[in-house]
Amino acid sequence: MKKMLICLAAAVLFSACSNNRDGARPPMMGWNSWNAYMVDISDSIIMNAADMMIAKGLKEAGYDHVNIDDGYFGYRDSLGYMVPHPVRFPNGMKHVPEYIHSLGMKAGIYSDAGHNTCGSNYNKDPHGLGAGLWQHEIQDAERYFNDWGFDFIKIDWCGGSKLGLDVEQRYMRIREIIDSVANKPIDINVCRWRYPGTWVSKVGSSWRVSGDIRPNWPSICDMINKNLYLSAYAGGGHYNDMDMMVVGYNGGKDSAFWEDSYGSNFGLTFDEEEAHFTMWCAMSSPLLIGCDLTYIPQETIDIITNPELVAINQDRLGLQAHVIQHDGEGYVLAKDIEKRHTGPRAVTLYNPSDSALTFTIPAEAVGFAGGMTVRDLNERRDLGTCEVIEMTLPAHYAKLLRVEGKRTDIQVYEAEWAYVQDFTRVRQKEITKYETYPGASCNAVATSVGGRAEGNLQWRDVYMGKGGRYAVSVLCAAAPGTEIVLTVNGKEHRTAVTAEGLNPVNFMADFKRGVNVVTVGNPEVMIPVVDCIRIISTK
Ligand code: GLA
Repeated sequence: MKKMLICLAAAVLFSACSNNRDGARPPMMGWNSWNAYMVDISDSIIMNAADMMIAKGLKEAGYDHVNIDDGYFGYRDSLGYMVPHPVRFPNGMKHVPEYIHSLGMKAGIYSDAGHNTCGSNYNKDPHGLGAGLWQHEIQDAERYFNDWGFDFIKIDWCGGSKLGLDVEQRYMRIREIIDSVANKPIDINVCRWRYPGTWVSKVGSSWRVSGDIRPNWPSICDMINKNLYLSAYAGGGHYNDMDMMVVGYNGGKDSAFWEDSYGSNFGLTFDEEEAHFTMWCAMSSPLLIGCDLTYIPQETIDIITNPELVAINQDRLGLQAHVIQHDGEGYVLAKDIEKRHTGPRAVTLYNPSDSALTFTIPAEAVGFAGGMTVRDLNERRDLGTCEVIEMTLPAHYAKLLRVEGKRTDIQVYEAEWAYVQDFTRVRQKEITKYETYPGASCNAVATSVGGRAEGNLQWRDVYMGKGGRYAVSVLCAAAPGTEIVLTVNGKEHRTAVTAEGLNPVNFMADFKRGVNVVTVGNPEVMIPVVDCIRIISTK
Protein backbone atom coordinates (compact mmCIF):
# COMPACT_ATOMS: atom_id res chain seq x y z
CA MET A 1 0.00 0.00 0.00
CA LYS A 2 1.23 3.44 -0.84
CA LYS A 3 2.45 5.35 2.13
CA MET A 4 0.97 8.82 2.22
CA LEU A 5 2.52 11.32 4.50
CA ILE A 6 1.12 14.77 4.75
CA CYS A 7 3.98 17.20 4.34
CA LEU A 8 2.12 20.03 5.88
CA ALA A 9 -1.49 20.40 6.82
CA ALA A 10 -3.36 23.66 6.65
CA ALA A 11 -0.52 25.33 8.47
CA VAL A 12 0.47 27.31 5.44
CA LEU A 13 0.41 30.97 5.98
CA PHE A 14 -2.70 32.55 7.18
CA SER A 15 -0.25 33.66 8.54
CA ALA A 16 21.98 34.61 -4.08
CA CYS A 17 22.69 34.77 -7.04
CA SER A 18 24.74 32.17 -8.86
CA ASN A 19 25.98 32.26 -12.41
CA ASN A 20 24.09 30.28 -14.98
CA ARG A 21 25.54 27.20 -16.63
CA ASP A 22 27.18 27.78 -20.02
CA GLY A 23 27.80 31.40 -19.03
CA ALA A 24 24.13 32.12 -19.65
CA ARG A 25 23.07 34.96 -17.46
CA PRO A 26 20.19 34.76 -14.98
CA PRO A 27 17.20 37.12 -15.31
CA MET A 28 17.96 40.79 -14.71
CA MET A 29 17.30 42.18 -11.23
CA GLY A 30 16.98 45.87 -10.51
CA TRP A 31 14.77 48.94 -10.49
CA ASN A 32 12.99 50.79 -13.31
CA SER A 33 11.68 54.34 -13.14
CA TRP A 34 8.46 53.96 -15.12
CA ASN A 35 5.79 52.77 -12.72
CA ALA A 36 6.58 55.27 -10.00
CA TYR A 37 7.36 58.35 -12.09
CA MET A 38 6.31 57.79 -15.68
CA VAL A 39 7.88 60.60 -17.76
CA ASP A 40 8.45 62.88 -14.74
CA ILE A 41 11.95 61.68 -13.98
CA SER A 42 15.15 63.59 -13.25
CA ASP A 43 18.78 62.88 -12.55
CA SER A 44 18.22 63.30 -8.82
CA ILE A 45 15.31 60.81 -8.84
CA ILE A 46 17.44 58.23 -10.61
CA MET A 47 20.52 58.78 -8.43
CA ASN A 48 18.37 58.70 -5.31
CA ALA A 49 16.96 55.36 -6.45
CA ALA A 50 20.53 54.10 -6.86
CA ASP A 51 21.35 55.25 -3.31
CA MET A 52 18.24 53.53 -1.99
CA MET A 53 19.24 50.27 -3.68
CA ILE A 54 22.35 50.29 -1.53
CA ALA A 55 20.81 51.71 1.65
CA LYS A 56 17.91 49.25 1.69
CA GLY A 57 20.03 46.17 1.04
CA LEU A 58 18.54 45.60 -2.41
CA LYS A 59 21.83 45.61 -4.24
CA GLU A 60 23.22 43.15 -1.74
CA ALA A 61 20.25 40.87 -2.44
CA GLY A 62 21.11 40.91 -6.17
CA TYR A 63 19.18 43.93 -7.52
CA ASP A 64 22.02 45.46 -9.49
CA HIS A 65 20.43 47.42 -12.35
CA VAL A 66 19.08 50.96 -12.25
CA ASN A 67 17.08 51.51 -15.42
CA ILE A 68 15.88 54.83 -16.76
CA ASP A 69 12.64 54.46 -18.72
CA ASP A 70 10.79 56.93 -20.93
CA GLY A 71 10.98 60.66 -20.09
CA TYR A 72 14.66 61.62 -20.28
CA PHE A 73 14.53 62.85 -23.88
CA GLY A 74 15.20 66.51 -24.63
CA TYR A 75 15.86 67.14 -28.27
CA ARG A 76 18.16 66.12 -31.10
CA ASP A 77 21.05 68.54 -31.73
CA SER A 78 21.88 69.90 -35.19
CA LEU A 79 23.77 66.68 -35.97
CA GLY A 80 20.92 64.47 -34.81
CA TYR A 81 22.41 63.34 -31.49
CA MET A 82 20.09 63.04 -28.50
CA VAL A 83 20.40 65.69 -25.80
CA PRO A 84 18.67 64.86 -22.52
CA HIS A 85 15.80 66.95 -21.18
CA PRO A 86 17.40 70.25 -20.07
CA VAL A 87 15.23 70.61 -16.96
CA ARG A 88 15.00 66.99 -15.87
CA PHE A 89 18.70 66.33 -16.60
CA PRO A 90 20.27 69.81 -16.32
CA ASN A 91 23.82 68.42 -16.10
CA GLY A 92 23.49 66.13 -19.08
CA MET A 93 23.29 62.36 -18.79
CA LYS A 94 26.81 60.97 -18.55
CA HIS A 95 27.19 61.53 -14.82
CA VAL A 96 24.06 59.45 -14.07
CA PRO A 97 25.31 56.07 -15.36
CA GLU A 98 28.74 57.01 -14.01
CA TYR A 99 27.24 57.41 -10.56
CA ILE A 100 25.34 54.13 -10.86
CA HIS A 101 28.55 52.39 -11.94
CA SER A 102 30.46 53.94 -9.05
CA LEU A 103 28.05 52.14 -6.71
CA GLY A 104 28.86 48.83 -8.40
CA MET A 105 25.61 48.59 -10.38
CA LYS A 106 24.65 48.64 -14.04
CA ALA A 107 22.66 51.30 -15.82
CA GLY A 108 19.81 50.87 -18.27
CA ILE A 109 18.14 53.24 -20.71
CA TYR A 110 15.05 53.25 -22.90
CA SER A 111 14.08 53.94 -26.50
CA ASP A 112 11.62 52.93 -29.19
CA ALA A 113 12.13 50.91 -32.37
CA GLY A 114 10.28 53.59 -34.33
CA HIS A 115 10.16 57.38 -34.50
CA ASN A 116 8.13 58.37 -31.43
CA THR A 117 8.13 56.92 -27.91
CA CYS A 118 5.05 55.66 -26.08
CA GLY A 119 5.27 58.59 -23.64
CA SER A 120 4.97 61.07 -26.51
CA ASN A 121 1.58 59.57 -27.19
CA TYR A 122 0.07 58.32 -23.92
CA ASN A 123 1.77 60.83 -21.61
CA LYS A 124 1.73 63.73 -24.05
CA ASP A 125 5.47 64.26 -23.63
CA PRO A 126 6.41 66.27 -26.74
CA HIS A 127 10.08 65.44 -26.17
CA GLY A 128 9.41 61.85 -27.10
CA LEU A 129 8.48 62.84 -30.66
CA GLY A 130 11.28 61.82 -32.98
CA ALA A 131 13.26 60.49 -30.00
CA GLY A 132 13.09 56.81 -31.00
CA LEU A 133 15.87 54.90 -32.76
CA TRP A 134 14.30 55.24 -36.21
CA GLN A 135 16.92 56.68 -38.61
CA HIS A 136 19.20 57.47 -35.65
CA GLU A 137 20.26 53.94 -34.73
CA ILE A 138 23.99 54.51 -35.13
CA GLN A 139 24.03 57.90 -33.43
CA ASP A 140 21.91 56.69 -30.55
CA ALA A 141 24.04 53.59 -30.05
CA GLU A 142 27.17 55.75 -30.03
CA ARG A 143 25.66 58.16 -27.56
CA TYR A 144 23.89 55.80 -25.18
CA PHE A 145 26.53 53.09 -24.91
CA ASN A 146 29.85 54.66 -25.83
CA ASP A 147 29.45 58.31 -24.72
CA TRP A 148 27.13 57.82 -21.78
CA GLY A 149 28.11 54.25 -20.86
CA PHE A 150 24.73 52.52 -20.47
CA ASP A 151 24.79 48.72 -20.29
CA PHE A 152 21.21 47.83 -21.20
CA ILE A 153 18.38 49.21 -23.33
CA LYS A 154 14.65 48.52 -23.29
CA ILE A 155 13.25 49.08 -26.77
CA ASP A 156 9.54 49.86 -26.99
CA TRP A 157 7.25 49.44 -29.97
CA CYS A 158 4.77 52.39 -30.04
CA GLY A 159 6.74 54.16 -32.76
CA GLY A 160 7.54 50.94 -34.60
CA SER A 161 3.89 50.04 -34.68
CA LYS A 162 2.91 53.51 -35.89
CA LEU A 163 5.36 53.25 -38.79
CA GLY A 164 4.00 49.79 -39.63
CA LEU A 165 7.46 48.22 -39.37
CA ASP A 166 8.05 44.47 -39.53
CA VAL A 167 8.80 43.59 -35.93
CA GLU A 168 11.35 40.84 -36.58
CA GLN A 169 13.31 42.71 -39.24
CA ARG A 170 13.31 45.88 -37.19
CA TYR A 171 14.58 44.43 -33.93
CA MET A 172 17.13 42.21 -35.72
CA ARG A 173 18.48 45.29 -37.50
CA ILE A 174 18.74 47.24 -34.25
CA ARG A 175 20.57 44.30 -32.63
CA GLU A 176 23.06 44.27 -35.51
CA ILE A 177 23.71 48.00 -35.30
CA ILE A 178 24.13 48.00 -31.53
CA ASP A 179 26.56 45.09 -31.78
CA SER A 180 28.62 46.86 -34.40
CA VAL A 181 28.65 50.27 -32.69
CA ALA A 182 28.75 49.62 -28.92
CA ASN A 183 32.14 49.13 -27.35
CA LYS A 184 30.83 46.46 -24.94
CA PRO A 185 28.07 43.81 -24.93
CA ILE A 186 24.65 45.41 -24.49
CA ASP A 187 21.56 43.67 -23.13
CA ILE A 188 18.30 44.39 -24.94
CA ASN A 189 14.72 44.04 -23.74
CA VAL A 190 12.23 43.76 -26.60
CA CYS A 191 9.10 45.55 -25.45
CA ARG A 192 6.57 44.34 -28.03
CA TRP A 193 3.87 43.52 -25.41
CA ARG A 194 3.29 39.98 -26.73
CA TYR A 195 5.54 36.98 -27.28
CA PRO A 196 7.06 38.14 -30.59
CA GLY A 197 8.42 34.90 -32.10
CA THR A 198 11.37 32.58 -31.63
CA TRP A 199 13.71 35.01 -33.43
CA VAL A 200 13.56 37.20 -30.33
CA SER A 201 16.16 35.08 -28.50
CA LYS A 202 18.70 36.37 -31.02
CA VAL A 203 17.89 39.95 -30.07
CA GLY A 204 16.93 40.16 -26.42
CA SER A 205 18.00 38.80 -23.10
CA SER A 206 14.32 39.33 -22.26
CA TRP A 207 11.08 40.32 -23.98
CA ARG A 208 7.75 41.44 -22.68
CA VAL A 209 4.89 38.99 -23.08
CA SER A 210 2.08 41.41 -22.23
CA GLY A 211 0.86 44.97 -22.13
CA ASP A 212 1.62 47.06 -19.05
CA ILE A 213 1.11 45.55 -15.61
CA ARG A 214 -1.28 47.23 -13.14
CA PRO A 215 -0.97 47.28 -9.37
CA ASN A 216 -3.82 44.90 -8.64
CA TRP A 217 -4.36 41.15 -8.29
CA PRO A 218 -6.27 40.60 -11.58
CA SER A 219 -3.34 42.10 -13.46
CA ILE A 220 -0.88 39.76 -11.72
CA CYS A 221 -3.04 36.77 -12.73
CA ASP A 222 -3.24 38.09 -16.28
CA MET A 223 0.57 38.29 -16.53
CA ILE A 224 0.91 34.75 -15.19
CA ASN A 225 -1.73 33.42 -17.61
CA LYS A 226 0.06 35.02 -20.54
CA ASN A 227 3.29 33.31 -19.55
CA LEU A 228 1.98 29.89 -18.39
CA TYR A 229 2.70 28.12 -21.66
CA LEU A 230 5.81 29.98 -22.83
CA SER A 231 8.38 27.99 -20.87
CA ALA A 232 9.83 26.42 -24.05
CA TYR A 233 10.95 29.85 -25.23
CA ALA A 234 12.93 30.80 -22.13
CA GLY A 235 16.38 29.47 -21.34
CA GLY A 236 20.02 29.87 -22.17
CA GLY A 237 20.08 33.37 -20.70
CA HIS A 238 16.86 34.56 -22.42
CA TYR A 239 13.67 35.17 -20.49
CA ASN A 240 9.98 35.95 -20.79
CA ASP A 241 9.47 39.32 -19.11
CA MET A 242 6.27 39.60 -17.07
CA ASP A 243 6.88 43.35 -16.59
CA MET A 244 7.97 45.32 -13.54
CA MET A 245 6.92 44.09 -10.14
CA VAL A 246 4.06 46.16 -8.72
CA VAL A 247 5.21 45.72 -5.14
CA GLY A 248 5.84 48.36 -2.51
CA TYR A 249 2.86 50.63 -2.96
CA ASN A 250 1.28 49.87 0.39
CA GLY A 251 1.25 53.24 2.07
CA GLY A 252 3.92 54.53 -0.28
CA LYS A 253 3.99 58.00 -1.74
CA ASP A 254 2.83 56.61 -5.07
CA SER A 255 -0.47 55.49 -3.63
CA ALA A 256 -2.20 58.76 -4.43
CA PHE A 257 -1.19 58.59 -8.06
CA TRP A 258 -2.26 54.98 -8.47
CA GLU A 259 -5.46 55.52 -6.55
CA ASP A 260 -6.35 58.33 -8.93
CA SER A 261 -5.81 55.96 -11.84
CA TYR A 262 -7.30 52.78 -10.43
CA GLY A 263 -9.63 53.87 -7.63
CA SER A 264 -10.39 51.10 -5.20
CA ASN A 265 -8.95 48.45 -7.51
CA PHE A 266 -5.48 49.48 -6.44
CA GLY A 267 -2.69 47.80 -4.57
CA LEU A 268 -1.76 44.36 -3.33
CA THR A 269 -1.83 42.96 0.19
CA PHE A 270 1.52 41.71 1.44
CA ASP A 271 0.37 38.12 0.82
CA GLU A 272 -0.46 39.07 -2.75
CA GLU A 273 2.94 40.74 -3.09
CA GLU A 274 4.55 37.52 -1.92
CA ALA A 275 2.50 35.48 -4.40
CA HIS A 276 3.47 37.92 -7.16
CA PHE A 277 7.17 37.67 -6.29
CA THR A 278 7.00 33.88 -5.91
CA MET A 279 5.53 33.51 -9.40
CA TRP A 280 8.07 35.88 -10.99
CA CYS A 281 10.79 33.74 -9.40
CA ALA A 282 9.26 30.42 -10.50
CA MET A 283 8.79 31.67 -14.05
CA SER A 284 12.25 33.27 -14.25
CA SER A 285 10.98 36.71 -15.16
CA PRO A 286 13.33 39.66 -14.79
CA LEU A 287 12.85 41.11 -11.30
CA LEU A 288 12.52 44.86 -11.69
CA ILE A 289 11.14 46.86 -8.80
CA GLY A 290 8.84 49.68 -9.93
CA CYS A 291 7.99 51.67 -6.80
CA ASP A 292 9.55 54.73 -5.17
CA LEU A 293 12.29 53.13 -3.10
CA THR A 294 12.27 55.92 -0.53
CA TYR A 295 8.90 54.69 0.71
CA ILE A 296 9.13 50.96 0.04
CA PRO A 297 7.78 49.19 3.15
CA GLN A 298 10.14 46.89 5.07
CA GLU A 299 7.62 44.02 4.64
CA THR A 300 8.00 44.36 0.87
CA ILE A 301 11.79 44.43 1.12
CA ASP A 302 11.69 41.26 3.23
CA ILE A 303 9.54 39.54 0.58
CA ILE A 304 11.64 40.48 -2.43
CA THR A 305 14.98 39.78 -0.80
CA ASN A 306 14.15 36.28 0.47
CA PRO A 307 17.40 34.64 -0.67
CA GLU A 308 15.81 31.23 -1.22
CA LEU A 309 13.21 32.64 -3.60
CA VAL A 310 15.76 34.86 -5.35
CA ALA A 311 17.95 31.76 -5.83
CA ILE A 312 15.11 30.06 -7.75
CA ASN A 313 14.85 33.03 -10.09
CA GLN A 314 18.62 33.20 -10.49
CA ASP A 315 19.16 29.43 -10.65
CA ARG A 316 22.14 28.37 -12.75
CA LEU A 317 19.99 26.33 -15.17
CA GLY A 318 17.95 29.44 -16.11
CA LEU A 319 14.76 27.46 -16.77
CA GLN A 320 11.15 28.65 -16.59
CA ALA A 321 8.74 26.45 -14.64
CA HIS A 322 5.93 24.76 -16.56
CA VAL A 323 2.51 23.53 -15.47
CA ILE A 324 2.56 19.94 -14.21
CA GLN A 325 -0.89 19.87 -12.64
CA HIS A 326 -4.00 22.00 -13.06
CA ASP A 327 -7.12 20.96 -11.16
CA GLY A 328 -9.97 23.32 -10.57
CA GLU A 329 -8.51 26.77 -10.19
CA GLY A 330 -5.11 25.78 -8.82
CA TYR A 331 -1.91 25.28 -10.76
CA VAL A 332 1.25 23.40 -9.87
CA LEU A 333 4.40 24.30 -11.80
CA ALA A 334 7.84 22.70 -11.71
CA LYS A 335 11.33 23.20 -13.04
CA ASP A 336 14.68 21.54 -12.58
CA ILE A 337 17.10 23.53 -10.47
CA GLU A 338 20.82 23.22 -9.76
CA LYS A 339 21.32 20.07 -11.87
CA ARG A 340 19.27 19.04 -14.90
CA HIS A 341 17.33 15.75 -14.98
CA THR A 342 18.72 14.18 -11.85
CA GLY A 343 18.78 17.02 -9.33
CA PRO A 344 16.17 18.76 -7.21
CA ARG A 345 13.10 20.54 -8.59
CA ALA A 346 11.40 23.80 -7.67
CA VAL A 347 7.69 23.12 -7.31
CA THR A 348 5.28 26.05 -7.23
CA LEU A 349 1.73 25.98 -5.95
CA TYR A 350 -0.38 28.83 -7.30
CA ASN A 351 -3.84 29.73 -6.11
CA PRO A 352 -5.25 32.62 -8.16
CA SER A 353 -8.75 32.07 -6.80
CA ASP A 354 -10.70 34.02 -4.20
CA SER A 355 -10.88 31.15 -1.72
CA ALA A 356 -8.47 28.75 0.00
CA LEU A 357 -7.45 25.75 -2.11
CA THR A 358 -6.03 22.38 -1.10
CA PHE A 359 -3.38 20.95 -3.39
CA THR A 360 -2.65 17.21 -3.52
CA ILE A 361 0.49 16.51 -5.50
CA PRO A 362 1.73 12.93 -5.81
CA ALA A 363 5.44 12.30 -6.30
CA GLU A 364 4.90 10.98 -9.87
CA ALA A 365 3.32 14.28 -10.91
CA VAL A 366 6.51 16.05 -9.87
CA GLY A 367 8.62 13.42 -11.63
CA PHE A 368 9.79 11.50 -8.57
CA ALA A 369 9.43 7.84 -7.65
CA GLY A 370 8.57 7.43 -3.98
CA GLY A 371 9.66 9.71 -1.18
CA MET A 372 10.33 13.40 -1.66
CA THR A 373 12.22 15.68 0.71
CA VAL A 374 10.51 19.05 0.79
CA ARG A 375 11.58 22.52 1.88
CA ASP A 376 9.26 25.52 2.03
CA LEU A 377 11.25 28.36 0.44
CA ASN A 378 8.81 31.13 1.35
CA GLU A 379 9.03 30.28 5.03
CA ARG A 380 12.59 28.94 4.76
CA ARG A 381 12.02 25.72 6.65
CA ASP A 382 12.18 21.99 6.00
CA LEU A 383 8.89 20.13 5.85
CA GLY A 384 10.19 16.56 5.93
CA THR A 385 9.71 13.62 3.60
CA CYS A 386 6.51 12.43 1.96
CA GLU A 387 5.05 10.64 -1.07
CA VAL A 388 2.25 13.13 -1.58
CA ILE A 389 2.47 16.84 -0.96
CA GLU A 390 -0.75 18.06 0.51
CA MET A 391 -1.07 21.72 1.26
CA THR A 392 -3.75 24.33 1.65
CA LEU A 393 -3.06 27.78 0.32
CA PRO A 394 -5.12 30.84 1.13
CA ALA A 395 -6.76 32.85 -1.65
CA HIS A 396 -4.42 34.82 -3.94
CA TYR A 397 -1.30 33.06 -2.84
CA ALA A 398 1.64 31.07 -4.21
CA LYS A 399 4.33 28.98 -2.61
CA LEU A 400 7.68 27.65 -3.79
CA LEU A 401 9.02 24.32 -2.57
CA ARG A 402 12.40 22.76 -3.14
CA VAL A 403 11.80 19.05 -3.69
CA GLU A 404 14.37 16.27 -3.86
CA GLY A 405 13.99 12.59 -4.62
CA LYS A 406 14.64 9.84 -7.14
CA ARG A 407 13.33 10.51 -10.64
CA THR A 408 10.64 8.27 -12.21
CA ASP A 409 11.07 6.15 -15.35
CA ILE A 410 7.70 7.05 -16.85
CA GLN A 411 7.93 10.36 -18.52
CA VAL A 412 5.13 12.65 -19.54
CA TYR A 413 5.80 15.63 -21.76
CA GLU A 414 2.90 18.02 -22.18
CA ALA A 415 2.23 19.57 -25.58
CA GLU A 416 2.11 22.98 -23.93
CA TRP A 417 5.75 22.59 -22.84
CA ALA A 418 6.93 21.93 -26.40
CA TYR A 419 8.84 24.34 -28.58
CA VAL A 420 7.30 25.34 -31.91
CA GLN A 421 9.73 26.90 -34.34
CA ASP A 422 7.29 29.42 -35.84
CA PHE A 423 5.31 30.11 -32.67
CA THR A 424 4.43 33.75 -32.25
CA ARG A 425 1.68 35.77 -30.70
CA VAL A 426 2.25 38.72 -32.97
CA ARG A 427 1.03 37.38 -36.27
CA GLN A 428 -2.59 36.39 -35.98
CA LYS A 429 -2.50 33.52 -38.44
CA GLU A 430 -4.12 30.22 -37.57
CA ILE A 431 -0.99 28.51 -36.35
CA THR A 432 -0.06 26.45 -33.34
CA LYS A 433 -1.48 27.67 -30.06
CA TYR A 434 -1.44 26.45 -26.48
CA GLU A 435 -4.91 26.42 -25.02
CA THR A 436 -6.84 25.25 -21.99
CA TYR A 437 -8.84 22.14 -22.81
CA PRO A 438 -10.96 20.56 -20.09
CA GLY A 439 -10.35 16.85 -19.78
CA ALA A 440 -6.83 16.98 -21.22
CA SER A 441 -3.86 16.23 -19.02
CA CYS A 442 -3.05 19.42 -17.08
CA ASN A 443 -6.22 20.79 -18.73
CA ALA A 444 -4.25 22.17 -21.65
CA VAL A 445 -3.26 21.15 -25.18
CA ALA A 446 -1.55 22.47 -28.28
CA THR A 447 -3.86 23.08 -31.22
CA SER A 448 -3.23 23.31 -34.98
CA VAL A 449 0.03 21.41 -34.71
CA GLY A 450 2.05 20.76 -37.88
CA GLY A 451 0.85 21.41 -41.40
CA ARG A 452 4.40 22.71 -41.86
CA ALA A 453 7.71 21.49 -40.46
CA GLU A 454 8.10 24.61 -38.29
CA GLY A 455 4.73 23.91 -36.68
CA ASN A 456 5.60 20.55 -35.18
CA LEU A 457 5.96 20.23 -31.42
CA GLN A 458 9.49 19.74 -30.26
CA TRP A 459 10.73 18.58 -26.86
CA ARG A 460 14.43 19.27 -26.91
CA ASP A 461 15.39 17.89 -23.57
CA VAL A 462 13.92 14.39 -23.24
CA TYR A 463 16.31 12.78 -20.83
CA MET A 464 16.77 9.02 -20.54
CA GLY A 465 18.80 7.46 -17.76
CA LYS A 466 19.13 4.37 -19.99
CA GLY A 467 19.21 4.06 -23.77
CA GLY A 468 17.01 1.50 -25.55
CA ARG A 469 13.58 0.85 -26.98
CA TYR A 470 10.66 2.72 -25.43
CA ALA A 471 6.90 2.79 -26.01
CA VAL A 472 5.71 6.28 -26.90
CA SER A 473 2.06 7.13 -26.77
CA VAL A 474 0.92 10.42 -28.31
CA LEU A 475 -2.40 11.60 -26.92
CA CYS A 476 -4.05 13.60 -29.69
CA ALA A 477 -7.20 14.23 -31.69
CA ALA A 478 -7.35 14.17 -35.50
CA ALA A 479 -9.55 12.65 -38.20
CA PRO A 480 -9.16 8.86 -38.44
CA GLY A 481 -6.56 8.03 -41.06
CA THR A 482 -4.43 11.11 -40.27
CA GLU A 483 -0.80 10.12 -39.88
CA ILE A 484 0.98 11.27 -36.75
CA VAL A 485 4.69 11.67 -37.32
CA LEU A 486 6.98 11.09 -34.35
CA THR A 487 10.71 11.70 -34.67
CA VAL A 488 13.29 10.75 -32.08
CA ASN A 489 16.70 12.26 -32.75
CA GLY A 490 15.68 12.74 -36.40
CA LYS A 491 14.44 9.18 -36.98
CA GLU A 492 10.87 9.24 -38.27
CA HIS A 493 7.98 6.95 -37.24
CA ARG A 494 4.41 7.18 -38.59
CA THR A 495 1.18 5.80 -37.13
CA ALA A 496 -2.35 6.58 -38.36
CA VAL A 497 -5.11 7.79 -36.05
CA THR A 498 -7.85 5.15 -35.78
CA ALA A 499 -10.64 6.83 -33.81
CA GLU A 500 -12.39 10.18 -33.32
CA GLY A 501 -11.67 12.20 -30.15
CA LEU A 502 -8.68 12.45 -27.83
CA ASN A 503 -6.94 9.05 -28.08
CA PRO A 504 -3.48 7.57 -27.72
CA VAL A 505 -1.54 6.84 -30.92
CA ASN A 506 1.21 4.35 -30.15
CA PHE A 507 4.80 4.00 -31.32
CA MET A 508 7.95 2.12 -30.45
CA ALA A 509 11.15 4.11 -30.76
CA ASP A 510 14.83 3.96 -29.84
CA PHE A 511 16.20 6.52 -27.43
CA LYS A 512 19.77 7.14 -26.47
CA ARG A 513 21.09 7.58 -22.98
CA GLY A 514 21.08 11.26 -22.06
CA VAL A 515 19.25 14.04 -23.91
CA ASN A 516 16.96 13.16 -26.85
CA VAL A 517 15.06 15.46 -29.19
CA VAL A 518 11.49 14.37 -29.89
CA THR A 519 9.04 15.95 -32.34
CA VAL A 520 5.36 15.29 -32.95
CA GLY A 521 3.19 16.57 -35.76
CA ASN A 522 3.06 16.09 -39.49
CA PRO A 523 4.69 18.55 -41.89
CA GLU A 524 1.94 18.03 -44.48
CA VAL A 525 -1.21 17.80 -42.40
CA MET A 526 -2.39 19.82 -39.43
CA ILE A 527 -3.15 17.85 -36.25
CA PRO A 528 -6.03 19.69 -34.54
CA VAL A 529 -5.16 18.76 -30.94
CA VAL A 530 -2.13 17.26 -29.18
CA ASP A 531 -2.38 16.76 -25.42
CA CYS A 532 0.87 15.09 -24.35
CA ILE A 533 3.28 12.23 -24.96
CA ARG A 534 4.03 9.43 -22.54
CA ILE A 535 7.29 7.52 -22.78
CA ILE A 536 7.40 4.16 -21.03
CA SER A 537 10.25 1.70 -20.75
CA THR A 538 9.44 -1.60 -22.50
CA LYS A 539 11.57 -3.66 -20.13
C1 GLA B 1 5.16 51.23 -22.77
C2 GLA B 1 5.90 50.15 -22.00
C3 GLA B 1 6.07 50.58 -20.56
C4 GLA B 1 6.82 51.90 -20.49
C5 GLA B 1 6.11 52.94 -21.33
C6 GLA B 1 6.92 54.20 -21.49
O1 GLA B 1 3.85 51.36 -22.33
O2 GLA B 1 5.21 48.93 -22.08
O3 GLA B 1 6.75 49.58 -19.82
O4 GLA B 1 8.14 51.71 -20.94
O5 GLA B 1 5.84 52.47 -22.63
O6 GLA B 1 6.25 55.16 -22.23
